[in-house]
Amino acid sequence: MDRLIVTGGTRLCGRLPAAGSKNEVLPLMAAAMLASEPLVIRNVPDLRDVRTMLSILQRLGVEVDLAGDVLTLQASDHGPVEAPYDLVSTMRASVCVLGPLVARRGAARVSMPGGCVFGVRPVDLHVKGLNALGAGIEVEGGYLVAGPDRHLRGADVYLGSRFGSSVLATAQVLSAAVLAEGTTRIENAAMEPEITRLAQCLQQMGARIEGVGGHRLVVHGVEQLGGADVTVGADRIEAGTFLVGAAMTGGDVTVENVRPHELMALSEVLRSMGAEIVEGDDSIRCRADGRLESADVTTLPYPGFPTDLQAQLMAAMCTARGISLVTERIFPDRFMHVAELLRLGARIRKEGSQAIVHGTERLSGATVMASDLRASAALVLAGLVADGETEIRRVYHIDRGYSRIDERLGLLGATIRRETQPKLDPQPADW
Ligand code: EPZ
Repeated sequence: MDRLIVTGGTRLCGRLPAAGSKNEVLPLMAAAMLASEPLVIRNVPDLRDVRTMLSILQRLGVEVDLAGDVLTLQASDHGPVEAPYDLVSTMRASVCVLGPLVARRGAARVSMPGGCVFGVRPVDLHVKGLNALGAGIEVEGGYLVAGPDRHLRGADVYLGSRFGSSVLATAQVLSAAVLAEGTTRIENAAMEPEITRLAQCLQQMGARIEGVGGHRLVVHGVEQLGGADVTVGADRIEAGTFLVGAAMTGGDVTVENVRPHELMALSEVLRSMGAEIVEGDDSIRCRADGRLESADVTTLPYPGFPTDLQAQLMAAMCTARGISLVTERIFPDRFMHVAELLRLGARIRKEGSQAIVHGTERLSGATVMASDLRASAALVLAGLVADGETEIRRVYHIDRGYSRIDERLGLLGATIRRETQPKLDPQPADW
């Protein structure tokens, strides 16, 4: 297993392009199942999760060709319909092949994704939405099973829960409705940019979708979808991670190829903490000197503050001046990073779905354990401001969603190295 060793005390300075978005490319890859002609996806990020999704698509008989960052996918009307547990359990987003499989092949057997370190990750909205279209999904032996010979029909679907909208449930139902007979109305659809770009890709394939970018999507089903040639947009969460790093190290970083409006919630918070944010047409610059001020933040569906940047911002709060409050409204248990930040000398108190952070002057390096993807990125950021060395173990969590984070942070001046360790890491009590 790899480890990252971060030496604190360096400011992040420089410019770098954001990578292609993990959370955009995964639903796009699943949507390839719907296309009768090749789907070309450009600017594909080099991530573990992308490789996992490719393995799943190949198991489903999709022809895959990856040349550099250009991925060409060709699915046929017939082929295997099972996405196995050993792959789906490593990456929740793979459940998104369920809707396209039923829509294209009339059948599916997809493992339920299981939970993760920040809580139960139900798929009830996925099942509810697809069953409203007539998928007839049943749970059998931990698998979501539909068919054979299912024929989807349009319906009105409400995709809200007490946590608000659902990103992947929206992607799931949208990707099935485009081939359903008749009209589907999706109420309380997620508005995340990744959903907008999925809808635009489906439109390029010939889908008829109204209301793109809003909470109400109206889909008029078509008989067949053609191919498309799309370019993955910037990973707003990776970009936001680097901007937080700039703010908390007193640095000056410009992230390029981003859409500034997609990070407005973060920019507002960083400004309130004392950072200077300059938005260009396709870039965001974050500059800070001295200690940040505290802030209060609540995670909300887009365009609210993204839950995927909560851990990273908390790392910045740990050395800010004053007391900060973090309220997690999307995943109330998404605080795996707290215990590890405490090991670095942070002063944090978790109360239910909230965390109170008492900013301290300094953190001190220690060995910490990565858990979920974004919590792990937060530990890397904390290591940048901790005295001495911070060793982050189980780095494969980070590699799922960040392409070569050590090299990219190194380009910005961070002192960080990757060590490949034998698989002898002591296994702590499982999460
Ligand atoms: C997507 O997950 C992202 N993953 C997550 O990013 C992100 O944190 C999340 O959206 C919220 O923005 C991908 O896009 C691959 P949800 P998703 O359904 O769609 C509840 C990362 O770090 N819910 O929007 O699975 C759910 O429990 C990852 O890149 C149900 O109750 O999240 C949560 O409380 C982590 N029933 C809320 O909705 C369901 O059927 C929002 O979750 C589905 C979800």
